[in-house]
Amino acid sequence: MTEIPVPAVAVIVVAAGSGSRLGRDQPKAFVPLAGRAILEHALTGIFGMSEPAQVIVVAPTAQLAEATAIAERVAGPAAGHVSVVDGGDTRQASVARGMAAVHAGVTVVLVHDAARALTPAALSDAVVAAVRATGHGIVPGLPVVDTIKRVDEHATILGTVDRSLLSAVQTPQGFPRTMLDAAFAWAATLPATDAAARDLTDDAALVAAAGDPVGIIPGDPLAFKVTTPWDLRRAELLLAGTAAAAPEPRVGTGLDVHAFDDTSDLWLAGLHWPGERGLSGHSDGDAAVHAICDALLAAAGLGDIGQVFGTADPRLTDAHGEVFLTETLRLLTEAGYRVGNVTVQIIGNRPKLAPRRAEAQQLLTGILHAPVSVSATTTDALGFTGRGEGIAALATALLYPSGPTRASDRSAPKLNQ
Ligand code: CTP
Ligand code: MG
Repeated sequence: MTEIPVPAVAVIVVAAGSGSRLGRDQPKAFVPLAGRAILEHALTGIFGMSEPAQVIVVAPTAQLAEATAIAERVAGPAAGHVSVVDGGDTRQASVARGMAAVHAGVTVVLVHDAARALTPAALSDAVVAAVRATGHGIVPGLPVVDTIKRVDEHATILGTVDRSLLSAVQTPQGFPRTMLDAAFAWAATLPATDAAARDLTDDAALVAAAGDPVGIIPGDPLAFKVTTPWDLRRAELLLAGTAAAAPEPRVGTGLDVHAFDDTSDLWLAGLHWPGERGLSGHSDGDAAVHAICDALLAAAGLGDIGQVFGTADPRLTDAHGEVFLTETLRLLTEAGYRVGNVTVQIIGNRPKLAPRRAEAQQLLTGILHAPVSVSATTTDALGFTGRGEGIAALATALLYPSGPTRASDRSAPKLNQ
């Protein structure tokens, strides 16, 4: 098992509030949203960050076990860096409890509201990067679009606030660990009567009150906070929309067999294998490449290799794998698909794949512009492969519809789910 590196980033996910404005009979972070707790959605975003992080969930006393189960489920193999701690009476007290659990070695701390369930992982990555680049606190914020009025207690308008000077801030808010530690240490020195500074609704306010600078980076509309029943409905609708628009992947399998033919050279997995027994066939007999083509064509519903590349086609006499793969890729691109990944297993006694596996994978991956894994097995001396009469290959391909669902396309809204 590979050792998980000790993270330099910690994320405190505060989930200990009651959610009085949501008005449910369970604490807000545990209210279901599209079938999963709000906390589970929020953690999915955090575990999607590009850098591994220590994750500390701050939960209500009665929900510690539930929070632990959710956190471990979402963390999967990263569960070693997850802890759940008991919350406090105010958000600030909850953050302070989370801070106490931050590991030595962490240099950047993010504080995130579990209630911002749909926050994209990329926003957390951007906050970490900006904290490192500036060396001070960073909060994501969005411009205020409504006209804002100051009103008095009788609901009389006193004036209009210049909204160009306003930003609606979100979480995660990130800080150099030393700055957040210093801010909490400063708050602890305040008299208990100074309630205002002891119960600030965000961490930026505390750090700023303690005298350190905090900057703003662009926030994300998806990082909105689920506060009212209306917000919960909006989150439900956004998730339903993504589910409907989610690309339907398609799989296909392909099998190919060629007999050994001592009069030809061996071509397998796109490579030339000097000194090995060749395979018979109209083309170069590359069973691995042919199996991959069959898997790709099947996944796209485009038939099979015999149908697409007739043996009568003179272009294919002695053709090597690249010709088949390039044409197959062209056909499935034309049909509206892109390759997710491909695996191919070569079944036979020879050649020994291991010394050239990386070379084969690199070649095939380059041709298909998607990861191709190549493996090999023998059949314990059984069957035609065991008797050394030929080679078989079995491939699986995963395709996605092409278009705006590509991972590289950032224009579509990207939810964590
Ligand atoms: N929070 C917390 N501990 C508290 C209060 C709030 O961990 N004592 C967390 C909430 O769980 C939430 C985040 O801080 O994820 C933002 O707070 P808010 O949206 O105000 O949540 P609640 O306080 O739970 O809701 P409400 O104010 O409507 O009661
Ligand atoms: Mg609150």
